[in-house]
Amino acid sequence: MTDKRSFYLTTPIYYVNAAPHLGTAYTTVAADALARYQRMNGRDVLFLTGLDEHGQKVEEAATANNCSPREWVDRLAPAFTELWEQLAISNDRWVRTTDPEHEHAVQMLAQQLYDTGDIYPGTYEGWYCVPDEAYWAESDLDLHEHNADGAPAPLCPDCGRPLRYVEEQNYFFRLSKYQDWLLNYYEQHPDFIGPDTRRNEVISFVSGGLKDLSISRANVKWGVPLPWDADHTMYVWFDALINYISAIGYGNKQRFAEFTRRWPANLHFVGKDIIRFHCVIWPAMLHAARLPLPERIFAHGFLLAKGEKMSKSKGNATAPAALIERFGVDGYRYYFLRDVSFGTDGSISDEAMVQRYNGDLANDWGNLCSRLFNMVHKYCGGVVPDPSVCADTGEGAELREIAAGLYARVDAAFEALDYAGALEAIWDLVKAANRYLENSAPWTLAKAEEGSAERARLAAVLYGALEAVRIVALFAAPVLPLTSSEVLCRLGLPALDCSSTAALGDTAPLEQLTAWGGLPAGSPITIGEPLFPRLDQSATR
Ligand code: MSP
Repeated sequence: MTDKRSFYLTTPIYYVNAAPHLGTAYTTVAADALARYQRMNGRDVLFLTGLDEHGQKVEEAATANNCSPREWVDRLAPAFTELWEQLAISNDRWVRTTDPEHEHAVQMLAQQLYDTGDIYPGTYEGWYCVPDEAYWAESDLDLHEHNADGAPAPLCPDCGRPLRYVEEQNYFFRLSKYQDWLLNYYEQHPDFIGPDTRRNEVISFVSGGLKDLSISRANVKWGVPLPWDADHTMYVWFDALINYISAIGYGNKQRFAEFTRRWPANLHFVGKDIIRFHCVIWPAMLHAARLPLPERIFAHGFLLAKGEKMSKSKGNATAPAALIERFGVDGYRYYFLRDVSFGTDGSISDEAMVQRYNGDLANDWGNLCSRLFNMVHKYCGGVVPDPSVCADTGEGAELREIAAGLYARVDAAFEALDYAGALEAIWDLVKAANRYLENSAPWTLAKAEEGSAERARLAAVLYGALEAVRIVALFAAPVLPLTSSEVLCRLGLPALDCSSTAALGDTAPLEQLTAWGGLPAGSPITIGEPLFPRLDQSATR
């Protein structure tokens, strides 16, 4: 197993100020599909997600709920783990910033930067957004109407909520020192930040000049104490970013080999609102600590409900549970990855979700399986027919051609994080298989005499369509893990568990698995219940 190449993938760690919603589940589902894909592609995947539990935002949520921050995070953490379980999220590791190992790593890295002079004491005076846990320079704010005494606070340019004025003695990270180094790094590594719009945004922000960053808070108790000054806790972003290395053993001598094997990460997934933290502060922290940088940071867009970012504060956040119940786990996963282009904002709606579900899943894919499996029972005694009884008439040539080119197309799409493109390519085979059945009309072939050429063609046609179904199920497994496993079982094949590198074991990598002809003749076919029962279009909510 260990000779497989490592693939280390992370999501942001989520604030535990409230239960997860569709927006926060979005990154996790996308990361899960990629993790599953990479495992099937022969990589030794480490997929990390977790919780960001410290800071003022969480501290205040706890106070508002009359409990200690510790009680609060412990009470809310299961809402996340339960949702991930429901959505078949296959994270290999789970990090909480209150884990003692993480806290130790934070203190170690901070101490190192303090010792080298990259962290120094100073005074912070300025505006702070508690919901975003972010500092704002006056030059970024619209202060005209607000700076008179007694005037309301300016609003956060990002989330639109009122800022708070902070005046504290605290410690600073010499971020400004790394400005030129960062710009040079972006130039030398054009793939470091994606998509290009975000890369340009980061470059223009850094070119505008970086200020040193306040990295401690004297008035926030709920955080990691600075090792050299226990009156201060670590700024929550400085603390949180370190999760990406603490979770793989940074700061623990016994886990040194693991750390060097896994770091640098191959990919950090983030939302577009948190790129400055990931693409500016995090690389500077790593460089200051003499650590290599992650290979790539990719920012996706927002899920928009009626044109607005879906968020808890706007009150338009939908809880995923109701949608999972209605569309099923795979229906849920499919919609967000197929209908929203990863990397740009995407409007979501109930109508669009029902349409995708009924069109792509119930009609195209689910129906193909049930029609075909029924035909195999009706005409071939319920087992995969032997195609060798019929000389290749070239009838299934289109199907075989699409199947043969599919790995390259799907792989390129996953490489580009183009989930919609990968699914579109896979659906070309689904549609071709439906067309093939229509055009070759097995129900007519079945009427021909036993032993005739027509009857032999029936075997070849059904075999071709079944083989296409097997190949689709394999390619779709990263996005539709439950129904793909079900389809493979109905084809009489072993279930495919791509939820961990170990569970997948010695299963051949995807390219080999999906080579034409892998379905053995004689394999028993199970008809089963509809995979995606049709939803009533008029019942949209
Ligand atoms: N705790 C920080 C991340 C620290 S990572 C070292 C944080 N947490 S968050 O819970 O507020 O947000 C986590 C992620 O959810 C962000 O990447 C954010 O972009 C994403 N989303 C929150 N609402 C969203 C949408 N409506 N649509 C898509 N993603 C959005 O930030």
